[in-house]
Amino acid sequence: MKIIKTKDYNEMSLKAASMIAAQVILKPNCVLGLATGSTPLGTYEKLVEWCNNGHVDFSDVVTFNLDEYLGLDPSHDQSYRYYMNNNLFNKINIKIENTHVPSGVTTNIEEECANYDKMISDYGGIDLQLLGIGHDGHIGFNEPSDHFEKGTHCVTLTEETIKANSRFFESIDLVPKKAITMGMLSIMQAKKIVLVASGDDKKEILKKALFGPITPKVPASILQLHPDCTVITPISL
Ligand code: F6R
Repeated sequence: MKIIKTKDYNEMSLKAASMIAAQVILKPNCVLGLATGSTPLGTYEKLVEWCNNGHVDFSDVVTFNLDEYLGLDPSHDQSYRYYMNNNLFNKINIKIENTHVPSGVTTNIEEECANYDKMISDYGGIDLQLLGIGHDGHIGFNEPSDHFEKGTHCVTLTEETIKANSRFFESIDLVPKKAITMGMLSIMQAKKIVLVASGDDKKEILKKALFGPITPKVPASILQLHPDCTVITPISL
């Protein structure tokens, strides 16, 4: 695992965006795994800028997002589809039909999950997966558990995650209690992983994930086993 310590959030975003841009330039039809949340916003801003000034071309890129809240329609302003359209997809030259986010309003969760995994594998897997990390060590919405879940699946969010994400909702009661998330297999099979983390409130969990025992109680700790994982962070570890 490679750890890049940056001066600040902006430099973290610049470096993460550079790695993604390099991936797209080297393989224009690459498959990107993408994350939502506050942390990657700066990364997406840079990619938008570089696409609009002609440095990066997303016209053949395919994307798969990590997760989506169960019960939120794509038009809901807190759905992850809405976030992605608003912060990235509608601002770059990607074909919207090449972008994938699990459906939060599916009537058949099992089928939705199985199809999601099949689509990822039909595209040959993910070339570069961008990740953030939750305060409880989750990646995607793979919450602490007694085992690592392989496939895309439905999860019950922890109280900690619900509380952390309530900042985006009018009240904590409006935060969905469940989500669909990509499992550990698609994440770990990504050829390259880039994890971004910022804020001193992430320091303890980041230390545990990077240097502690590998355990499903700290889901991100599995990344220690990945052959090409880069952590970019302004946090002093
Ligand atoms: C969301 C996702 C989550 C976030 C994590 C951190 O798609 O994958 O694992 O990365 O909850 O969120 P922020 O960046 O808001 O602290």
